[in-house]
Amino acid sequence: MSDWTIGIIGGSGLYAMDALEDAQWIRINSPWGEASDEILCGTIGHVRVRFLPRHGRGHRISPSTLNSRANIDALKRAGCTDILAISAVGSLSEELPPGRFVTVDQFIDNTKGRPSSFFGDGLVAHVSMADPVCPRLSKHAAKAVAKVGGDCSEGATYLAMEGPQFSSRAESKLYRHWGAEVIGMTGMPEAKLAREAELPYALLAMVTDWDSWRDNEASVDVAEVVAQMGKNSAVARKAVEAFCKGLPKKRNPSPIDHALSDAVITAPDKHD
Ligand code: ADE
Repeated sequence: MSDWTIGIIGGSGLYAMDALEDAQWIRINSPWGEASDEILCGTIGHVRVRFLPRHGRGHRISPSTLNSRANIDALKRAGCTDILAISAVGSLSEELPPGRFVTVDQFIDNTKGRPSSFFGDGLVAHVSMADPVCPRLSKHAAKAVAKVGGDCSEGATYLAMEGPQFSSRAESKLYRHWGAEVIGMTGMPEAKLAREAELPYALLAMVTDWDSWRDNEASVDVAEVVAQMGKNSAVARKAVEAFCKGLPKKRNPSPIDHALSDAVITAPDKHD
C-alpha cells in the first residue's frame, strides 16, 4: 500500500465500483455534526479510498443544507491525504458541451450564508484561496479521464450558486460576463473547507447541460441533468479507478499539507 488515502466526494452512480476492494461502510463521528452519510472505505490498487456520497445514499440532502464542515472533517478523520471531488455542472462556455469532463481551477463563490469556515469562534485564520485547487491532483484526474476514453478539458472557472433552483436566463448570462465557465451548487464551501483542513482538493466536473444562457434553446431541467449523468457515470467510475492506479507509489508532500502554517492570527496563548 502507498501513502495516498484519497477521499472521493461524489454522486451515487460512482461508488458501485468493482475495482474497490475490501469495501466497508464506516460511520465517522464529527464535532461539526452529521456528515452526509457513512464513508465507504476500501482500496483501489495501491491507494486507500474513502468514498463519501455527497448528498447521502438515495440523494436526500439538498445543496443548501449539505454539512460540508462535517463532510470534510469526517474525511480528514478517516485519514485522507487528498480529496478528489466529482460534480455535475452546467456549461457557461461554448467550449464545454454536455458530455465533456473538465477540471476546475478557479471558483467564484456566490453561495449565500452556508457555514464556510472551521474558524472564527475564538480562533481566527485567513487561509489563501488564490489557487484553490491542487494542480497535481487535477492533472492526474484529467489524465485518468483521457485514459478511459473520456473527453477532458483542463482548467475552468466554477460559479458556485446557492440553488436549489436553477439560474434565470439573466443570471446565466451575467455569470458568463463574470468569466465563469461552469456552474454548480456544491463546489463551495467544500473547496474552502478542504483548504482549511490542509487537504489538497481537485474538482472533476461532468458537464450535463448548457444552463440557460443560449437564446432560442430550452433552459436546463433535472431530466436533462440526470440523463447526462447516467451517460457519464460509467466513464466517471472508470476514471476514478484509473486515477487511483495512476498515482505514483510515493506521495511527495504538497504545500497544501501546511496551508495553515501562516494563516492563524490569534495569539498562540489564546488558543492553547
Ligand atoms: N448542476 C448541473 N447542471 C447545473 C446547472 N445548470 N446549474 C447549477 N447546477 C448544476
